[in-house]
Amino acid sequence: MKEITRISPDELARQQIYIDQIAEENAEYFARTGRRRLAYTHTYGCQQNVSDGERIDGMLAQMGYGRAESVEEADFILYNTCAVREGAEDRVYGNAGALKHLKNRNKELILAIAGCMVQQKSVADKLYKSFPYIDLVMGTHVLHRFPELLFRVMKEKQRVYELPESEGVVAEGLPVLRSDSIHAWLPIMNGCDNFCSYCIVPHVRGRERSRRPGDILREASDIVAAGYKEITLLGQNVNSYGKNLEGAPGFPDLLRSICGLEGDFRVRFMTSHPKDATPELFKAMAESPKAARHLHLPVQAGSDQILKAMNRKYTAEAYLEKIHQVRELMPDIALTSDIIVGFPGETEEDFEKTLELVKTVGFDSLFMFIYSKRKGTPAERMDDPIPAEEKSRWFSRLVALQDEIMEAKHRAAVGRTVRVLVDGTDPKTGRLTGKDSGVLRVRIEEAPESLMGQFAQVKLTSASRHWVDGVLV
Ligand code: SAH
Ligand code: SF4
Ligand code: F3S
Repeated sequence: MKEITRISPDELARQQIYIDQIAEENAEYFARTGRRRLAYTHTYGCQQNVSDGERIDGMLAQMGYGRAESVEEADFILYNTCAVREGAEDRVYGNAGALKHLKNRNKELILAIAGCMVQQKSVADKLYKSFPYIDLVMGTHVLHRFPELLFRVMKEKQRVYELPESEGVVAEGLPVLRSDSIHAWLPIMNGCDNFCSYCIVPHVRGRERSRRPGDILREASDIVAAGYKEITLLGQNVNSYGKNLEGAPGFPDLLRSICGLEGDFRVRFMTSHPKDATPELFKAMAESPKAARHLHLPVQAGSDQILKAMNRKYTAEAYLEKIHQVRELMPDIALTSDIIVGFPGETEEDFEKTLELVKTVGFDSLFMFIYSKRKGTPAERMDDPIPAEEKSRWFSRLVALQDEIMEAKHRAAVGRTVRVLVDGTDPKTGRLTGKDSGVLRVRIEEAPESLMGQFAQVKLTSASRHWVDGVLV
């Protein structure tokens, strides 16, 4: 078994010294100017990245930074980036370009870019050449060293580019400033070993590595004690939790332990790779009342040939069999998925198999993407003859189909009573909104503001394509 590199308490203590030094410097600044230094951070991409961002925010808070609402008022700006599709990267280049005038106006301003995008050497090189005013570039494997890297920028007034190649590390004990007070993200593992042929994630996030069950349970208890009502366990493939960790439980048992904690809360998890989703997992969900009745099981495509080229390691039939197993145990479960349209070599016939599968399953919600070529992945070198306009047409067909399915699902839900976690306000109607144990978004008529962050029983009264309305019971 390969050892997982864990950041030692000594190393974290060393980082704490930098945190304290920056905090001192920021306190001096406050004493001198009467103004507190502010940090602006923005995270792109998946929840895993959001969770990393919350750790960056935690460190910044310990360094004495206040939170800036906009880049204009900030003394420190950080973009935590995603590389999964080209669009995500383009937005960061756009944003980085827009920072130039701020830096011209304020030479003391510190600009940083972190996350998956900059873990690609070609991107870091481009930033270094074309964006000389970016001070700090920090890859995904050095998050725990953020205090030290920022300190170097402040003291040495030099650009710091740190993106070591690494299989990845596990750092426990970093401070967390959670971005929400109702839902909490809880990473149980990092990285990915699946190497789907289109995907950049394994290249920028390193190998799969699990946190220790004790560390996870401790964080889960803290989250519940802090009053959170929903925990989402995060990993690129949660089903392989514990694989490289001696004595660790498998994911089904980890889920059971977390659901076994005292308190009124709900547990979700993502993502489950279909090849590793087992009846044992479905049983653990079915037996745990606190496990949300929701399974996100990305299928990506409905054609076996395309699934093979994607290196997904299951067939459409095997996928449908899993869906059948899940629904047998939990007939009311909400199922969601991801689909890629226009993978290299996909034909119209292949695409129609995707439509067919989507129709057969009837997903409660679907994340749909047009294939985006990623540097260094095997799919980059595959023949891709279908023109972009054709892929867009396919994409629209899929969206239209899913819209129909959602509308039918919403209408079928009318009359049911569901337990909703109230977590938002609809800007149009001003009504409180929330989500059931699946993925149904509900607007609640005449609900008092005091219900925010609480569970409520709601009877569903009417529905449209995007909304379901209900009343308190
Ligand atoms: N680990 C998760 C997904 C992480 S990325 C899983 O295995 O399901 C989230 C989604 O982005 C993927 O499920 C896939 O649908 C999409 N995606 C990943 N790479 C992509 C690419 N190169 N082009 C388009 N979509 C992509
Ligand atoms: Fe990417 Fe596949 Fe890993 Fe998901 S399982 S992160 S799609 S390589
Ligand atoms: Fe994007 Fe990195 Fe997540 S590439 S999807 S932020 S793991």
